[in-house]
Amino acid sequence: MNITRAYDEMFMAYANLLAQKGWAKTGTNPLVGAVIVKDDEIVGEGFHRKIGEAHAEICALAQAGERARESTLYVNLEPCTTYGHTPPCVNAIIRAGVNRVVIGAIDPNPEVNGRGIKYLTDAGIEVVQDILKHWTDNLNRWYYKFIKENLPYVILKIAASEDMRLSGYPQKYITSLQSRRYVHSLRSQIGAVMIGINTLLVDNPYLTDRLVGRHNPTRIVIDPHLKIPLNTHFLIPDAHRIIITDKNNPSEKIKKLSERGVEFILLDGTDYPPQKILNALAQSGIGAVMIEGGALVFNQFLKSELYDEILLFVAPVTVNKGLELKLENTLIKNIVPEKIGGDKLYHVYRNN
Ligand SMILES: NC(=O)c1ccc[n+]([C@@H]2O[C@H](COP(=O)([O-])OP(=O)(O)OC[C@H]3O[C@@H](n4cnc5c(N)ncnc54)[C@H](OP(=O)(O)O)[C@@H]3O)[C@@H](O)[C@H]2O)c1
Ligand SMILES: [Zn+2]
Repeated sequence: MNITRAYDEMFMAYANLLAQKGWAKTGTNPLVGAVIVKDDEIVGEGFHRKIGEAHAEICALAQAGERARESTLYVNLEPCTTYGHTPPCVNAIIRAGVNRVVIGAIDPNPEVNGRGIKYLTDAGIEVVQDILKHWTDNLNRWYYKFIKENLPYVILKIAASEDMRLSGYPQKYITSLQSRRYVHSLRSQIGAVMIGINTLLVDNPYLTDRLVGRHNPTRIVIDPHLKIPLNTHFLIPDAHRIIITDKNNPSEKIKKLSERGVEFILLDGTDYPPQKILNALAQSGIGAVMIEGGALVFNQFLKSELYDEILLFVAPVTVNKGLELKLENTLIKNIVPEKIGGDKLYHVYRNN
């Protein structure tokens, strides 16, 4: 192992961990962490906390102050060159007198995409690339999709019996506590979950991350006829709540729900192709969403292939009845499931 590379990886690992603190809060922006090192000591660190707020590099530079001069900046994603909500980070880095910049991955945003590196090298700064790139790529796979396709990253989270049924179970939860805890941690990372109205009516789910308690995701329900009852758990004001519905629904009920802090995505009519739903979510600033049911919603997203990943939890029960999951066996036949609690977890990436 090259010593310099191992040294750089050590600080880049920390930058990635800092970036993860932004999970669920950066909306359609990337997860970015930055560390400034001078004479083997960390003199500044930061992460992107929220869309619209300072970028990670700026937070770290502010903390380092004068000590940023002749330092090394570690940042998991290429520094930006654009005037978005904030001015370009490359200018601040050059001004602060940083003389070495270590980057995890190039920003695929067409407005940056290598330009940040060029700015820095043109200013005489040494730039090192691709340090723990796989970590940044994995962490920012949602952002990469959004910036390229202007669509949220979609994960289908499905719990099924051995015979691929989605309902008709003997107990409320068919999967193990360990599986559910894993799902709750994903909810807190992805930042948004979505269900169809029947699931809300039948299961009355909370859709929180209560088993980990970090950050409740935005919850979204597709409810074209506005059947949502006013006493449902979905409406508890402990998270952003969004209802996707027909704009011609009675304004009285929309008003009542708005007064309780609910937001609406108003569409034409009562039948929304998955693509239309995803476009509407993108316009509402949702960069990633975990779809949690029910059968109709899963099957339409599977059929249209508008998903990026599937997390299929298979519990060790057979029910011989209930709603059926229409999942091509070819999708999972070559996947070795992970054991989680008593369940099997198949993790499918659509592009693999
Ligand atoms: N095993 C699991 O992982 C899992 C997860 C969640 C739920 N479930 C189970 O699944 C069952 C519910 O599933 P389900 O298939 O009956 O219903 P669902 O998928 O939860 O909801 C379907 C309803 O949502 C609305 N909807 C969904 N997609 C729409 C679209 N693209 N455009 C317009 N409206 C749309 C429609 O409402 P309208 O009828 O008003 O038009 C539709 O009838 C429950 O038994 C629940 O326990 C299982
Ligand atoms: Zn920036």
